[in-house]
This record gives sequence, structure tokens and C-alpha cells, in this order.
Amino acid sequence: MSNVQPHPKLIAIGAMAENRVIGVDGRMPWHIPDEFRWFRSATLGHAVLMGRKTLESIGRPLPGRKNLVASRRILPFAPPQDVELISDLAAFDPDTVASARVFVAGGAEVYRQMLPRCSELWLTRVHRHAEGEAVFPEFEDLFRAGECLLEHADFRVTRWFRSMPGNSGSVSNYGN
Ligand SMILES: NC(=O)c1ccc[n+]([C@@H]2O[C@H](COP(=O)([O-])OP(=O)(O)OC[C@H]3O[C@@H](n4cnc5c(N)ncnc54)[C@H](OP(=O)(O)O)[C@@H]3O)[C@@H](O)[C@H]2O)c1
Repeated sequence: MSNVQPHPKLIAIGAMAENRVIGVDGRMPWHIPDEFRWFRSATLGHAVLMGRKTLESIGRPLPGRKNLVASRRILPFAPPQDVELISDLAAFDPDTVASARVFVAGGAEVYRQMLPRCSELWLTRVHRHAEGEAVFPEFEDLFRAGECLLEHADFRVTRWFRSMPGNSGSVSNYGN
């Protein structure tokens, strides 16, 4: 059990194959429009935090959301509107973001560092195996499964709650 204190605003959101793969050659391993629609509806109007490689794979900031992009690089130009650079994830303070929720949206490097700080995980299990080098980190010791948020022929979305460090309880709901 990690002793890191989760933050109620931080919610991880992502999709993984049965073999935990989330990405191949810098892109998504599948094209499932209904899963993209789910991600869009869940995150619209909120802030999304992603790694620089994930932003590059999407190719543009996500519209209708505050985009927080982790990168240690110093850009030679000002980031576009609605994009804020996070130069040090460890020092990132969700309380400085003017949004009720900050969705941690990958990729693998960012999930690995941020999952222990998330109070919830909204995880899509895609019903297939996938080829790819990017995998979702182990989270089962940190979170307990809650309700199913969406059932689809090709995938299922489950809400997981972070167990509180030091006891078996979970972080209280942040509302829905
Ligand atoms: N299935 C899904 O739900 C899902 C979701 C998102 C992404 N993906 C996939 O995941 C893959 C990308 O994942 P990835 O692990 O390769 O890359 P990533 O996590 O998207 O981005 C990694 C980058 O984030 C920056 N970074 C990492 N730690 C940092 C820190 N502590 N402070 C500041 N910046 C930091 C660095 O950028 P700099 O190099 O610029 O310093 C690093 O190279 C792609 O295939 C993508 O399609 C899948």
C-alpha cells in the first residue's frame, strides 16, 4: 500500500486491453468510437492532465477542456490557449487548477507517477488483446472496484476507488 495521500480532485481515466496494453508506437492500439465518446463525455468541461507524448499522439489539445501537459522540456514558444505546461509532476498541485475535477489521462509514464495520488480510477477494459509496448501500471493493490459505469459489447468501464493509506477504507466520493 502506498502512503501517498490521494487528492479528491484527481481521477485517472484510461482504457486497457485484457493484457494491459494501452498504446503501440505512440498511438492508441484500437479505434473504438464509442469508447472515445465515453472519454469525451466524462471529461468535457474539466481539466485533463496528460504526458507530452500523449498530446503528440492526439495531435492537438482536447477541445472543451483545460489541457495540462507534463513535459520537462522548455518550449521555444508559448503553449496554445487552454494548454498549461507542467514541468514537474511531483510538484503539481491540483488545487491550483480552476476545475472541480482533474482527469489524469495517461500515458503509461504519467499513470505510473500519478495513480497513487488519484482518488478514483475510471478504467475501461477493452475486450481484446493488443500488441503494444505501453501498458497500464499495477493498480489493484491501491484501488477497490466500485460500480460499472458503462457496459458495451466491446468494453466495460468500471469505477475504482483509492483505498486510504493506513486503513482499508476508501476516499469519499467526490460527487458524480
Ligand atoms: N489507452 C489509453 O487510455 C491511453 C491514454 C493515454 C495515452 N495512451 C497511449 O500511451 C502512449 C504514450 O505513453 P508514454 O508513457 O509513452 O508517454 P506519456 O506518459 O504520454 O508522456 C511521457 C512524457 O511526459 C513527460 N513527463 C513524464 N514524467 C514527467 C514529470 N515527472 N514531470 C514533467 N514531465 C514529465 C515527459 O515529456 P518530455 O519528454 O517532453 O519531457 C515524458 O516524455 C501512447 O501510445 C498513447 O497512445 C493510451
